[in-house]
Amino acid sequence: MRIDILTLFPDTVGDMMNESILGRAQERGYIRIETHQIRDYTTNKQNQVDDYPYGGGRGAVMQADPLYNCWCHACDEAGGPVHTVYLTPCGHVFTQADAKRLSKLDNIILVCGHYEGIDQRFIDECVDEEISIGDFVLTGGEIPAMAVADSVCRLVPGVLSDSECFEDESHWAGTLEYPQYSRPAVWHGREVPPILLSGDHAKVARWRRKQSLLRTRARRPDMYEKLVFETKEDKKILKEMAEDDERRAAPAMDRGE
Ligand SMILES: C[S@@+](CC[C@H](N)C(=O)[O-])C[C@H]1O[C@@H](n2cnc3c(N)ncnc32)[C@H](O)[C@@H]1O
Repeated sequence: MRIDILTLFPDTVGDMMNESILGRAQERGYIRIETHQIRDYTTNKQNQVDDYPYGGGRGAVMQADPLYNCWCHACDEAGGPVHTVYLTPCGHVFTQADAKRLSKLDNIILVCGHYEGIDQRFIDECVDEEISIGDFVLTGGEIPAMAVADSVCRLVPGVLSDSECFEDESHWAGTLEYPQYSRPAVWHGREVPPILLSGDHAKVARWRRKQSLLRTRARRPDMYEKLVFETKEDKKILKEMAEDDERRAAPAMDRGE
């Protein structure tokens, strides 16, 4: 998988993408992330990439030509079919399902806007997909591009040591992850749930599943509603959760308090 990022801040983006897990994955050849300075593709003396918006209004718009020249260069370097994504608050909101879909592609180009955004004609001519990272507005597309590149790359086989690393995580199978704990067993008087110290893998797995369902139900009812419970174990856990709810709802006297 190769990702080319078109940006006005290639050093910042490059530094971030070359660190830690993604840096090591690049060294080992599982992924390749290249950044391109859009300003290098201008044809004016000032290397200006933006101009005033037609129709008036505040701010500046990134012109189509430098973006197009930069994009053509990145396409040539990719050397195969590319999928071009423009990061924009006007795009569809990015999810783990998008990350999974994009992780199967060979070449992705991520285009970072700045100022008021980019000339629509570049989008119409070169962009396959517009992605937003949420319903808020940032000053530039660099953080969104890094977020998308990071979440896509970690799903590429070989980047993480084991696919279980992400298959067990939030949003992979429609749930949120269970709470995690590490040493020491007691911290500031707070104990790790004893079952995690039991060494009984089946019981730990069951506890984690229940915590994951409880957390999803409490924090993301929209996700919880869509879950389908088919296994015997899940049905047992659901029964237990319903019994816990009933117990909590019962008046104190009924509970013998
Ligand atoms: C200030 S924003 C432009 C916002 C644009 N005028 C609008 O109202 O939709 C500048 C650049 O930041 C990036 N950006 C800002 N918020 C974003 C978001 N939520 N998701 C993805 N990209 C975003 C885009 O690349 C955009 O071109």
